[in-house]
Amino acid sequence: MNNIIKPEPTIIFIFGGSGDLANRKLIPALYNLWLDGYMPDKFRVVGMGRTKYSDAEYRHEMNGGVNDFSRQKGSKESWLEFSENVKYLVSDVMDKKSYTAMGKMIDKAEKDFGAHPNVIFNLAIAPGLMDDVVRHLGESGICRDPECTRLVIEKPFGHDLKSAIALNNLLKEYFDESQIYRIDHYLGKDAVQNILVFRFANLLFEPIWNNNYIEHVQITVSEDIGVGDRGGYYDKSGALRDMIQNHVLQLLCFTAMEPPVSFEAEGIRNRKTDVLRAIRRFKPEDVAENAVRGQYSEGWSKGDKAKGYREEVGKETDTETYAAVKLHIDNWRWRGVPFYVRSGKRMFGKTSVITIQFKSAPHQVFPEATATTVKPNRITIAIAPDTGIKIRFQSKRPGLDMMLNPVEMKFNYSETYKDKQPEAYETLLHDVMTADATLFMRSDEVEAAWALLTPILEAWEKNPAYDFPNYEPGSSGPKTADALIAKDGFHWVS
Ligand code: BG6
Repeated sequence: MNNIIKPEPTIIFIFGGSGDLANRKLIPALYNLWLDGYMPDKFRVVGMGRTKYSDAEYRHEMNGGVNDFSRQKGSKESWLEFSENVKYLVSDVMDKKSYTAMGKMIDKAEKDFGAHPNVIFNLAIAPGLMDDVVRHLGESGICRDPECTRLVIEKPFGHDLKSAIALNNLLKEYFDESQIYRIDHYLGKDAVQNILVFRFANLLFEPIWNNNYIEHVQITVSEDIGVGDRGGYYDKSGALRDMIQNHVLQLLCFTAMEPPVSFEAEGIRNRKTDVLRAIRRFKPEDVAENAVRGQYSEGWSKGDKAKGYREEVGKETDTETYAAVKLHIDNWRWRGVPFYVRSGKRMFGKTSVITIQFKSAPHQVFPEATATTVKPNRITIAIAPDTGIKIRFQSKRPGLDMMLNPVEMKFNYSETYKDKQPEAYETLLHDVMTADATLFMRSDEVEAAWALLTPILEAWEKNPAYDFPNYEPGSSGPKTADALIAKDGFHWVS
């Protein structure tokens, strides 16, 4: 049975409406929701920006985005019908008048809909504008009703612990926590939510999901692309802030959290925050031992000449494009099980994979000579490029003799389900419209993630990298990252 809730009438303001995110992700996601019947019966989407588009010009631009990036294209008629609800407001987010204009649009929508709409502000704006926009929104009075006004905040949410706390405090001055939806698009992915289903809807795995049976865990989120034209943003960020602080730690939380009582926002977020709080904090002197960084050089990527990071951004910069960290979760379940996480650009490929490596069986029953190929059990949770789960176990090879061989049991989304997986933004925007915060970051969770990583950021800032660039395009990252895991007797799996 379909348990999807149809949202109430809604007006969505997209700050940064003429930008890349709106074009590639937000408008296509809303269009797909509409095609599938999940948009409210009455809605309006308002792109906002300084570019002087008319409604028609904006729709034309967004149609280009849909043609290039949308999961489903729909027909020409479908687009026309959907886009009648798309408007554009020429606006400057630093100017009070823009907020007055938004207020008028809300009043107009209320009149047209015959009901007070939910009002969503999607803030895809440069971090430098965030404080002013929050103040303007708060002071304008248009967010007064916490029941029906919601803020969607794209990352980066701060750039370290101090700035994240400051932003949270500012938000608290004007808004209730229940109005704030901090996006991490990884949580919108089906394969990520499936981690919880795999763990908590089955009896088989949870009893062995602990330090009695698991040797170590790896999380790899690699990309083959470089930073391209995002250098301006990326150079102020780096791999630790851009990927580890959010996406990778969220994967870790889903993998390591205790079972929640139910699949609802506070329960899930409490259990995730517990994990982040249980991760051992680094003292400055521990950082070199547990965290490594890298930056890609020029070289070859998939047969093409690829620029080095410094050439791409046009300066001698020490920003890391790769980070790997060894983490310890100090609680009953995980004490003694290292979690190795890594993420980088211009690596061997695009993969997001969690590897749960089990210990060897306690006793070898089969004669040693017959079991030379035995490998301990392993569960691989793949989020990209494939989505699915593999379980490795031993089998007997066919034949009269007793020879053991590891085999895999596989679940693959695209083979099992005909239904296409929605894009992450479809799930997340629908959740915002129905006020479901389960897949969004709470303020304390974001702060706990920053508290964990800030000592690494500080240590790296104090001690500039001496060996950058230190890995080649298409490789698995710097040699130091191999050493990080090899010194414990393991190797990176994917
Ligand atoms: C974004 C990062 O949050 O995630 C990008 O800012 C990165 O640098 C992207 O490329 C990766 O997302 P996905 O869904 O393609 O794995």
